[in-house]
Amino acid sequence: MTTKTNVAIFVSGKGSNALKIIQHFKSSSCVKIGLVLSNNEGALALEKARNLGVETVVFDNQSLIKKSFVLNFLIHKKIQFIVLAGFLRQIPAEIVQYYAKKMVNIHPSLLPKYGGKGMFGMRVHEAVIKNQEKESGITIHYVSELYDKGAIIFQKKISVEKEDNSNTLAKKVQCLEHHYFPITLQKLLCNDV
Ligand code: GRF
Repeated sequence: MTTKTNVAIFVSGKGSNALKIIQHFKSSSCVKIGLVLSNNEGALALEKARNLGVETVVFDNQSLIKKSFVLNFLIHKKIQFIVLAGFLRQIPAEIVQYYAKKMVNIHPSLLPKYGGKGMFGMRVHEAVIKNQEKESGITIHYVSELYDKGAIIFQKKISVEKEDNSNTLAKKVQCLEHHYFPITLQKLLCNDV
């Protein structure tokens, strides 16, 4: 019998990636989305995740940094792998260390470009447009203690057209995320080639 990898998804906002991932693995034989964790009780993804039968939990920002509090919770819930999908707080070092090579993040640019502290959401796309970049894309990477600097697992490029603005670029990048994030996780967690 194959045992499923028990995965937690961390979200702060809309959670559209989290929902794509939950839907993708709904009937998976190798992955169970066991938990959606958020630091924002208003995160839209929470109710949708619950409707899809996934347990959710909210930790306020104080609890997140309280020593071992969240880590102990994750261990108690037998979480084996963590997916950051639009989680906007820094992950405590002890969690990063415990889940070394077992925690991934998605970033809406071609890292190392347009990454690092303060580079998130529309700020990324606005900077790409301002600098008249010819291409942008997505990066899925392991989480290390250095912000947006963990080993890169997957990147996909798209061209930035002259008529693009930060909104149209954001939409194109999000389409890439929704398509490639679930299948990249599938490759990682289900030994798919
Ligand atoms: C995505 O663009 C992702 O790259 C970034 O945060 C955003 C989350 O979007 N890390 P959503 O909440 O999944 O819609």
